[in-house]
Amino acid sequence: MAVIEATREAIEAAGRALREGALVAFPTETVYGLGADATNGRAVAGIFAAKGRPRFNPLIVHVPDTESAARLGRLTAAGRRLAAAFWPGPLTLVLAKQPDCPVADLATAGLDTVAVRVPAHPVAQALLSAAERPIVAPSANRSGHVSPTTAAHVEADLGASVAIILDGGPAPIGIESTVVDATGEAPVMLRSGGVPREDIARVLGQRVGVSEGEPGKPASPGMLARHYAPAARLRLDARDVRPGETLLAFGSRVPEHSGPMLNLSPSGDLVEAAANLFAALRALDQSGATAVAVMPIPREGLGEAINDRLRRAAKPA
Ligand code: TXA
Ligand code: MG
Repeated sequence: MAVIEATREAIEAAGRALREGALVAFPTETVYGLGADATNGRAVAGIFAAKGRPRFNPLIVHVPDTESAARLGRLTAAGRRLAAAFWPGPLTLVLAKQPDCPVADLATAGLDTVAVRVPAHPVAQALLSAAERPIVAPSANRSGHVSPTTAAHVEADLGASVAIILDGGPAPIGIESTVVDATGEAPVMLRSGGVPREDIARVLGQRVGVSEGEPGKPASPGMLARHYAPAARLRLDARDVRPGETLLAFGSRVPEHSGPMLNLSPSGDLVEAAANLFAALRALDQSGATAVAVMPIPREGLGEAINDRLRRAAKPA
């Protein structure tokens, strides 16, 4: 269906559509989400059908504030500290499900944990209050594609199966939320994302481990090795460009090259590079590039999440 500008009336209509069990795509500060009423199992099933997901991965439940989150999952002391520091914002906490948690079992893939997030984007917040219920939302792309950072990306991937696509402009962060398992006293990162690991460690006053999961049994079940997938072959940490390659550059010191080039951030800013990453991967596909040389990107701050997504995108199919 059509993309519509996220006016107050459009958001009200989207809230009604969600209550009636339809799917609504909406902007968050990380990426666009494909939303459904989290308490409606049939609506949640529609998400898996629309995305063409090969299996039922657990989804993130979006709520307007920390108290709403605490009604769905049990916030530990560490979880409360993280919520206070980073909500609303690009952080998802995996929590032990409350006994009376109203979220449909399909949304949590039958686990006894629930992943919750309080988004900061004003359109996401307005939609939550219009819907008057938690909204479950994976990234609004077809399974295996890169996450959408504009309404046009959503339309290209999922157009036919979504009742309303709310257009709130480009997603400002451009990379998915950081997922932290906060069920225990020592939180563990399950997915790098919009909140850098260093910031989480600073708030907790301790080092934060990353659980990569065992092969075939990822800790964060949606984290298949190859997930963020352009058709082009990516060569990472490239310091030169070979014949036939397109250059995906970062920073101002670009290797000698006369062919096609995209620069994630000419000024070498990791925040800007994160915001441009997924649109750049889509643009590479659209350009018909078959081989891409990707310059090294520093690993600190948002660089950890950028490198993680590039590593997955570079895995052979
Ligand atoms: O930024 C984001 O997080 C976006 C926006 C729309 O909020 N959403 C998103 O959702 O990226 P999705 O479905 O593409 O990724 C959700 C991640 C997956 O890696 C999934 O395995 C993990 O969260 N997850 C969800 N519930 C979980 C649970 N109970 N335990 C462990 N991991 C969980
Ligand atoms: Mg996704």
